Amino acid sequence: MDQQPQTLSGKVALITGAAGAIGTATAALMAARGAKIVAVDIEGADTAALEKAVPGEQLKIVTADVTDEASVRDYVKAAREAFGGRIDIFHNNAGIEGPVKPIGDYPLDEFKKVFDVNVNGVFLGLKHVVPVMLEQGSGAIVNSSSVAGLSGAPGMSGYNASKHAVLGLTRVVALEVAGKGVRCNCINPGPIDSRMMDSLDKGRDTTQEAREKGVPEGRYGRPEEVARLVAFLASDDAEYINGAFHSIDGALHVST
Ligand SMILES: NC(=O)c1ccc[n+]([C@@H]2O[C@H](COP(=O)([O-])OP(=O)(O)OC[C@H]3O[C@@H](n4cnc5c(N)ncnc54)[C@H](O)[C@@H]3O)[C@@H](O)[C@H]2O)c1
Repeated sequence: MDQQPQTLSGKVALITGAAGAIGTATAALMAARGAKIVAVDIEGADTAALEKAVPGEQLKIVTADVTDEASVRDYVKAAREAFGGRIDIFHNNAGIEGPVKPIGDYPLDEFKKVFDVNVNGVFLGLKHVVPVMLEQGSGAIVNSSSVAGLSGAPGMSGYNASKHAVLGLTRVVALEVAGKGVRCNCINPGPIDSRMMDSLDKGRDTTQEAREKGVPEGRYGRPEEVARLVAFLASDDAEYINGAFHSIDGALHVST
């Protein structure tokens, strides 16, 4: 009988987009389960909630832009220097939603911006973290895709296409690391009660209350619920789970 399921004791977890709703909830839960947290977010991000949620001795905050390769190299280096050289967990999570516009009106520069963060940022994180984990012979990666990576939504060409790409990157990396002690999975959250969802609802000219009626479970998810999925996938309990996507969406994407 496992006495301490899902413990993350002694592990170092690197989280991008850590000042956001899901990143902060994940950092808080992983820290409570014993991990040290290296929290990456962009210059100017508000880290107050993160600093409140994670004890200071378990937290290193690093300012970096995930779209810039030199910056990614620096955050990986800073992560290794923070807590003894290892990166056991990588939650590759930074993302932006972009505008909500029909494809004929969707500006190319906005499309490129969404891809820069959601695809290039995820790619660069993998490019620089995977070799560290392979050298260690262990590690667990959880990429943040979305229900938008499994199905379409009108007005969200940039976001949907970028989240499909995260699924592709997950599958490629899973095969590259399989059998070498490293795993790479992705999560596909549905609407989560958060700033990002608020912004998308405003863009679609709808409200949370109205949209919740379309979710079979009848409500939006909570960042803490997503955090529990990420922490499980990052834990040794998930040792045979590799290359998989994991919906957490109140049955939304199977409902149509
Ligand atoms: N909120 C939802 O409903 C939902 C649903 C499905 C998937 N997701 C995905 O989960 C992830 C986290 O979402 P969230 O709700 O916490 O969003 P959020 O906006 O609260 O957090 C995202 C974080 O990423 C950071 N970030 C953006 N660009 C960056 C860059 N270039 N470099 C470094 N950091 C950068 C932001 O500053 C922010 O703190 C995203 O990838 C999002 O697409 C969210």
